[in-house]
Amino acid sequence: MLRNRKDLLGLKDLSEEEIKYILNTAETMKYILAQKNKKTPHLQGKSIITLFYENSTRTRLSFELAAKYMSASAANISASASSVQKGETLIDTGRTINMMGTDIIIIRHPMSGAPHLLARNVKASVINAGDGMNEHPTQALLDMMTIKEKKGEIRGLKVAIIGDIAHSRVARSNIWGLTKLGAEVCVAGPTTLIPPELEKTGVKVFNSVQEALLDADVVMGLRIQLERQKRGLFPTIREYTRFFGIDNKRLMFAKEDALLLHPGPVNRGVELSSDVIDGDKSLIDEQVANGVAVRMAILYLFARKGGSNENFN
Ligand code: CP
Repeated sequence: MLRNRKDLLGLKDLSEEEIKYILNTAETMKYILAQKNKKTPHLQGKSIITLFYENSTRTRLSFELAAKYMSASAANISASASSVQKGETLIDTGRTINMMGTDIIIIRHPMSGAPHLLARNVKASVINAGDGMNEHPTQALLDMMTIKEKKGEIRGLKVAIIGDIAHSRVARSNIWGLTKLGAEVCVAGPTTLIPPELEKTGVKVFNSVQEALLDADVVMGLRIQLERQKRGLFPTIREYTRFFGIDNKRLMFAKEDALLLHPGPVNRGVELSSDVIDGDKSLIDEQVANGVAVRMAILYLFARKGGSNENFN
């Protein structure tokens, strides 16, 4: 499984079996994380670099902790403090990192497709930690792990994703992953933030949050990227919250045992009300914890794929 894959670039490319294999591996990693001594020797001698061209708390930190728990050497480069500021291209930065004996490069970049470009130009394995509006595969994997833990099975569940679907790499990866695993995905959001032709992928699009939430097993809020409002894609934050914000009243349209997910960071009181964030349906903290287990699984499964110690030419 995953035998022929050097890189993890998105869930669009993975089969149902490959996704399940990663989720099963993450369950084992979670067991390790529950031990008093979390340190394992699995990645001893491996080196891992996080290369982030955008801000991050959860993704970067959980990858770094995952690497350290498994005894890898881990270092971080943020674009703002590197030679990127002097005009170095992504490919040249990647080749430089590669030549230092790096086994895995984890990249977050504002341009969709940047990890794919990097992957074609380095021998190290490349893991996509979020590229533009394209994909955020490890986020969707941790979301699916969280759902599976609570519901046992993803097949047959109704998952409602609410918010800015058009610009969300989290929504895109979840749509790929959840539909491959047999869930029904429904979305709602301002019409300017729903991609045209989404329904052709089998996703059900609703005009109102209430309709999308009706009898949902899982409700996923998305971060509203406030810069979209400046570009006129929705009128005001207050209007957005009035029509698309998820509060306890709206959550009652979902099933009684529905789960509430959000990838974070949350704009409190905008896409989710505080009582929902801190309520008993909320799994936001569990998502963060599962993020470490999923990233341990990814590093473990991909560490043997790259081969940075040879020159790349
Ligand atoms: N969910 C997510 O990607 O969070 P960060 O931006 O903090 O990594």
